[in-house]
Amino acid sequence: MKKNIVYFARMDFIDPKIVDYSEQHTQEESHLLAELNRYTHTSVLKPRMLSGHLQGRFLSFISHMIQPMHVLDIGTYTGYSALCLAEGMKKEGRLYTLDNNEEVMYTAAGFIKSSAYSKQIEMLTGEALESIQLLNQRVPQWDLIWMDAEKSQYSDYYHALIDKLRPGGIMMADNVLWSGKILDQKALEKDEDTKLLDAFNKMVYQDKRVESLLMPIRDGIMMLRKL
Ligand SMILES: C[S@@+](CC[C@H](N)C(=O)[O-])C[C@H]1O[C@@H](n2cnc3c(N)ncnc32)[C@H](O)[C@@H]1O
Repeated sequence: MKKNIVYFARMDFIDPKIVDYSEQHTQEESHLLAELNRYTHTSVLKPRMLSGHLQGRFLSFISHMIQPMHVLDIGTYTGYSALCLAEGMKKEGRLYTLDNNEEVMYTAAGFIKSSAYSKQIEMLTGEALESIQLLNQRVPQWDLIWMDAEKSQYSDYYHALIDKLRPGGIMMADNVLWSGKILDQKALEKDEDTKLLDAFNKMVYQDKRVESLLMPIRDGIMMLRKL
C-alpha cells in the first residue's frame, strides 16, 4: 500500500511534488520505521530532524551496497537513521549510535529494542566528539559513517574519523546545503553554521584522500569515498 501522507517537514528548495512523486516510487518503510516516524511526529520535539522515508531508504540502500561491519551513526535522535543503516550490515556487524540528549536516546532505545538489530546496535550517550574518540580506540576501522549531529562540528568529526575510515569506506554528512542558505551571501557572512558548513564542503572537496559527491537530496548530503 502506497501512503500519501508525507511525515517529514521538507527543506524548502526541492519542489514538494517531486518529493511526493519520489516517495511514491520508493520502497515503503517497514512497519517499525513507519511507527517510529509517526511517534516522532506526534510526541517528540523538532520532528523535522528525522531522516524520514526517502532519505531513510537511501541510507538503507547504501548500507546494502557496502555491507558494512562497523557503522557509525552520529546524531541518533529517535533512532530512525540507525535502524535504516543497520539494514545492510553484515550478520556479525555492529552499529554505534551517538547522541547527547538522554530523552531522545530513551525513545530510540525502545524502538531499537523492538527491531531485528537490537543485539547489534550500541548506543552511546554523551558529546559526539568524545564518543568518537572512545570508539576509535575500540573499532579497528569504519566502513560506513552517517554524520547528522552538530553542524558546526562536522569538520571536527571528519578529522577525528578520516584516518579510521577504510579505503573504499563511505562517509556521508546531512544538511550540507542548509535549506539553500549555503548560497546566501548574507548567511555566509553572518550565520556561523552556514559558514562552517560551507567550509566543511570545501574542505572535503579539496581533500585528496577522498572522492566527494554532493548530492542535492533533501537538505543536501555530502558523500565521500576514501581512496
Ligand atoms: C538531526 S538529529 C539526528 C537525526 C537522525 N540521524 C535521524 O535520521 O533521524 C541531530 C541529533 O544530534 C544530536 N546532537 C546535537 N549536537 C550533538 C553533540 N554535540 N553531541 C552528540 N549529539 C548531538 C541532537 O541531540 C539530535 O538528536
